[in-house]
Amino acid sequence: MIRARVAGTGSYIPEKVLTNLDLEKFLDTSDEWIVTRTGIRERHIAAVDENTSDLASEAARQALQMAGVGAEEIDLIVVGTVTGEFNFPSTACLVQKNLNARRAFAFDVSAACSGFLFALSNAVNYHRSGAVKRSLVIGAEVMSRTVDWKDRNTCVLFGDGAGALVLVNDESERGILSTHLHTDGSFWELLFQPRPSGWGPGASAEHATQEMGFLKMQGNEVFKVAVKLLSDVALEALAANGLTRDELKLIFPHQANKRILDAIGKRLGLSADKIFVNVDRVANTSSASIPIALDEANRQGLLAPQDLILINAFGGGFTWGSALIRW
Ligand code: UT7
Repeated sequence: MIRARVAGTGSYIPEKVLTNLDLEKFLDTSDEWIVTRTGIRERHIAAVDENTSDLASEAARQALQMAGVGAEEIDLIVVGTVTGEFNFPSTACLVQKNLNARRAFAFDVSAACSGFLFALSNAVNYHRSGAVKRSLVIGAEVMSRTVDWKDRNTCVLFGDGAGALVLVNDESERGILSTHLHTDGSFWELLFQPRPSGWGPGASAEHATQEMGFLKMQGNEVFKVAVKLLSDVALEALAANGLTRDELKLIFPHQANKRILDAIGKRLGLSADKIFVNVDRVANTSSASIPIALDEANRQGLLAPQDLILINAFGGGFTWGSALIRW
């Protein structure tokens, strides 16, 4: 059976750091509130001339270098993002141009904070079918351009960045074992971003102000659902493969809030050292969060061949999903 195996990881985080103390200077908030409620201490913000495709391309270059794969050998590029600089062309097409990956076909996937998992699942199926041999799967976001910097309920939570994986075909037991995706559109109003131009349901009279276009979230409602569904979908992946939590080396949940990570650990009966955390340094980077975390762990030497790891994400839509990976 053909599996997609991770051959290289990469990430790019913009240079500019915005700390909680920086936020205190222009927002009615405090480092103490943000750290206690979210675990976030700082986030990175893209420069004015940096766009989502730039972040994505840099993460991809690093992943290709680690994999020892040339851009011209890539068959497929999938980018999970909701912050591409254009409605079209896709961010993936711009990445293709930046890398000169001429033989690839490229497209974006929109699933909010679960975007990377949905992108990964797409790529895995192309590998399994034999249609592609080498792919780039990327999560990239400039969330700092989606939030209202006057709204303390949301702007403190997000950051910018990108992460990428190079996948190659493998016929051993290593690779992505399974992916599990879900959506429930009936929750859309709890977390959404209307189009700035005024299209769509978000463009009702009450939203038709200068704030139109900013991300809106009912945080505490999202929190409760996220903890349950992230835990359920992790168990679903283990059950589907006849594996148990004791066999997991590490899990990489979407980095939205340290309290969510702690709650998932509790529900799954996993000790804190099995849950990768970097939300304190990068905040919620939406679809970039899992590939950035994977790249950090990989470069820190935390992942060895054959290790069993689990990734799980949750986001607006609602969308959620998981994947089990034999590294
Ligand atoms: O990535 C996609 C999924 N997104 C998530 O998973 C986010 C999930 N939600 C959360 O992480 C949390 O719900 C938040 C961090 C957003 C909020 O934490 P909370 O413990 O649920 O707080 P809350 O929304 O219930 O608000 C508590 C209070 C409110 O004041 P009142 O109404 O009780 O007086 C807020 O106005 O905290 C206030 N507050 C703040 N205070 C200082 C909200 N944001 C801030 C802030 N600084 N930045």
